[in-house]
Amino acid sequence: MKLKSIQDVDLKNKKVLLRVDFNLPMQGKVIVDAERMLKAIPTIEYILEQHASVLIVSHLGQPENESFDESLSLKPIASKLSELISREVTLLKDLEEAKSIQFEVNKVYILENVRFLHGEKSDSEVLGKELSELSDIYALDCFACAHRKHASIHAAAKFAKVAVAGLLIEQEVKNLDKVLEDASSPIVGVVAGSKVSTKLELLENLIEKLDILILGGGIANTFLAAKDVPIGKSLYEGSLVNTAKRLINLAESKNTKIILPKDVVVANKIDFNVETRVVNFNNEEVVEDEEMILDFSEETLLEIKDVIATAKTILWNGPLGVFEYEKFSNGTRVLAESIAESLAFSVAGGGDTISAINKFKVQDKISYICTGGGAFLSYVKGNKLPGIEVIREKDNM
Ligand code: 3PG
Repeated sequence: MKLKSIQDVDLKNKKVLLRVDFNLPMQGKVIVDAERMLKAIPTIEYILEQHASVLIVSHLGQPENESFDESLSLKPIASKLSELISREVTLLKDLEEAKSIQFEVNKVYILENVRFLHGEKSDSEVLGKELSELSDIYALDCFACAHRKHASIHAAAKFAKVAVAGLLIEQEVKNLDKVLEDASSPIVGVVAGSKVSTKLELLENLIEKLDILILGGGIANTFLAAKDVPIGKSLYEGSLVNTAKRLINLAESKNTKIILPKDVVVANKIDFNVETRVVNFNNEEVVEDEEMILDFSEETLLEIKDVIATAKTILWNGPLGVFEYEKFSNGTRVLAESIAESLAFSVAGGGDTISAINKFKVQDKISYICTGGGAFLSYVKGNKLPGIEVIREKDNM
């Protein structure tokens, strides 16, 4: 069923609350990659062309205690948006300020990081109502966080007079549905990166859909730990080691091959000039207690290249190593270039993945790039995304 679209409603002289995902990769206050913002701009421009005002709402990072944290302020995000759309963007410091101002038609406002607000992550109905009352129309355009049942994504849409999908969401849903319909075997999935718990839990159904699953980053480390391979101080999720064991058994029973690293690049810290060494598990070498796995090494990368070359469909989310640092970027570079060279239909998604794609300049050689990471995996797995479902349900009422 088609989602109710922002193009289906009259926006003239209306206030539109637009939930976007401007959770951009940052190094301190510097934006590393603004692709997600660029993808939301057509909806912002559409709203302004219709002679309406827009109040943009987004999160950034994971603020603790639902309170203001200067390092996660949307100030740099507001400046970047202003630069990209060549218009003034007014940053509203909190809900009180948003409630008190007169929204002017054709103007762009952005609310400070919505995760500073009490009840955002617990999908508070109180916060949802307050947010929805700031506007006449609620529009969701953050595919990348539509899998989060948070107040600005779910409750706000539920209480809005009108809730619609933005242009980006429409495009993502249409393209991913087509990919899922057309996917031909062998299907190779790459699930890597640092958000271990979100992704590891999505692997269950994904394993059934894939022929080969390449794991990287903190997820691969958690699987190595499940196989009793010492991983030193590497990023991993101790509470999910048993889940990883179960997934290894599940993959065996479903005939899905899981590829874990055989050789890795390790160092004592993440730094530009740190000394590194290669640990090859096949040669009985071990990661020492003080070391961290920060990238894959040659043997594993050769295997990955071979596997990618045989794929007909590739689904990629997450970098293999800490690719922002030259010394740990080779694995992700080889992966990105192998996918770019392959003749398979490839879909890649997620903030860091997009940043890697842009860094290694392969954007024109990936068949479809999705803004979502966890949301992309969740959608491919067959989950209903709460942000999208609430719009469908309202439309049916
Ligand atoms: C993402 O970057 O995947 C989305 O913005 C969701 O972020 P979250 O994992 O912090 O909810």
